[in-house]
Order: sequence, then C-alpha cells, then structure tokens
Amino acid sequence: MILEVDRQVNLDIPDDAFLRAAKACKRVMNIQSPCSLSLTLTDDEGIRRINQMWRNLDNATDVLSFPGLPLTPESLFDEQTPEAQKIWDSEIGAFFLGDIIISVPRAIIQAHQYQHALLREMTYLFVHGLFHLFGYDHINKEDQTIMRKQEEQALQMAFEKDAIEEELLEAARSARDFAYSPYSNYKVGAALLCEDGTVYTGCNVENAAFGLTNCAERTAVFKAVSEGNKAFKAIAIAADQTAPWPCGACRQVLVEFAPKLRVLVTWGDHQVEKTTLDELLPHGFSGFKEDQHD
Ligand code: THU
Repeated sequence: MILEVDRQVNLDIPDDAFLRAAKACKRVMNIQSPCSLSLTLTDDEGIRRINQMWRNLDNATDVLSFPGLPLTPESLFDEQTPEAQKIWDSEIGAFFLGDIIISVPRAIIQAHQYQHALLREMTYLFVHGLFHLFGYDHINKEDQTIMRKQEEQALQMAFEKDAIEEELLEAARSARDFAYSPYSNYKVGAALLCEDGTVYTGCNVENAAFGLTNCAERTAVFKAVSEGNKAFKAIAIAADQTAPWPCGACRQVLVEFAPKLRVLVTWGDHQVEKTTLDELLPHGFSGFKEDQHD
C-alpha cells in the first residue's frame, strides 16, 4: 500500500497510522494487489473549496473521497478487468484507488463530541473515505449497516495489538538488510514503535575499531530521540540465526525512556518471543530521576 499525504494543516498523527488503517481496509476487502491513494489533510475552507469545485456543494464537511474507479460492493476491485488497468500506475507499480480529503478542525470537534482520541476520529474518517473509494455507500439504511460493519472490522484490525506487532516485526526484519556487520557477520534490525504510531528503524553499524560498534536498538532509539520522539511503546529486534535479545547496554538505554517497553525478538524462520523491558532489566539505573521501575 502506498500512501501520499498532503499536509496543508498541522496534525500530530504520522503517515504510519493512516498506512496501517489502509492496510487493514485492504485486508477486509481481501485485496492482494499493490494499491496507492492520496490523502489531503486540510481545514474547513480547504474542504469547502474542493466540495464546491468537484461536487458543486458550497459547504464544508468532515471527509470527502473521489474514487479512481466507479466500484460498487457488487463489482469489487478486480485487477484483471480493463477498468482496473486504467488506474494502474506503472511508475509506482500500484493501482490508484483515489483521493481522500479530511478537514482536521472538523475531526478535532468530532473527537470531542464522541469523547475519543483524535487518532481514533482521524482513523475513522480515513477508513470511511476509503470504503467509499471501494464503492460502499450509506444512502439507505441497509447499505449503511453493511458499510459500518466493514469499517468496524478495519478499525479493529488497525488498532489490534497483534496486527501492529506483526508489522513491527516485519519492519525489524527489513531493517536488518541494512546491517553493516562485516566483522561479526551478525545482522540485526530493530523497529521502535512510538506512542503516536511512528516507527523508527535501525541496524547495527560496526567499525574496524570494534568498540565503536552501535547496536541496531540504539540506532533506532537515537534516530527517534534526535527527531523529538521519546515516548516508546514497543521495540522489535530481528536477527538471522539466534534470538537477538538486546545487550545490557541497549537495555539500559531503553530503560531511560520506557521502563515498561514491550520487547519482541524474531530470528530464523519467523520464530518470535515477546516480553517486556522490566523483565529483561529489573532495577535498571535511573540516575537522579524518581524510581520509575516499581
Ligand atoms: N548487536 C546488536 O545490534 N544488538 C544487540 O542487542 C546485541 C548485538 C550487534 C552488535 C554487533 O554488530 C553484532 O550484533 C555482534 O555483536
């Protein structure tokens, strides 16, 4: 799934969060082919202008979607059809599903009204827009019920811990490809998930002066912190032959930011073990800070 996001207004939700939701929708729709779509995050005036220009409606709304193909739930996306070929983008190698436009200020108001997080509301609006691109509608009650059911399934998947963790493990496996380890030949990849949904990856970077080697976990942590993100939720670590339990130094670096971090390791043929940092490093050093480890 390829997602292009045009941010016309500030919003503290990373592209990764929308990408995860888009993948969940694809799974609900059972679409295997690569797809792309564009998301515009704008304000009321921005969405009003688009509504006026393309639908001749002079009012703001929360979400708009413009499908690449005139699909219906009965004529679902089928890459074999000549119509689907029309939306094949050979440059990026994906089918272009269409455009989704969301008014961020609207979403903020609605999140308050429904008393849930902005991430939840934004994800809902995005998923709603995407099911419109798939041809779903809510003109009558029956169609609305069907659309709601699909949306709910996708939302659950997008927020489901197992799905998120599987993606994180996969990101760590991909990051492992970049390992620079000519001395040990031990390749490690890490993927660090932040509270806001951003994922930072890292690999081990060795040096001829062996002591200067940086582990994959610390590469990921330093990338995150140096970009202003230090609220960590989980880390996945991948190696080839043996379980890459984080070394003592990395445990101590992680404990600085997230003593209760979830730690997932994967190796071999997708073997996986899961634990938490307080299991791996009880009573880690917290310096002059209040003891956060109890
Ligand atoms: N390594 C990591 O990347 N993470 C760890 O937690 C332990 C070890 C790397 C460092 C070195 O490049 C190689 O694995 C062998 O020690």
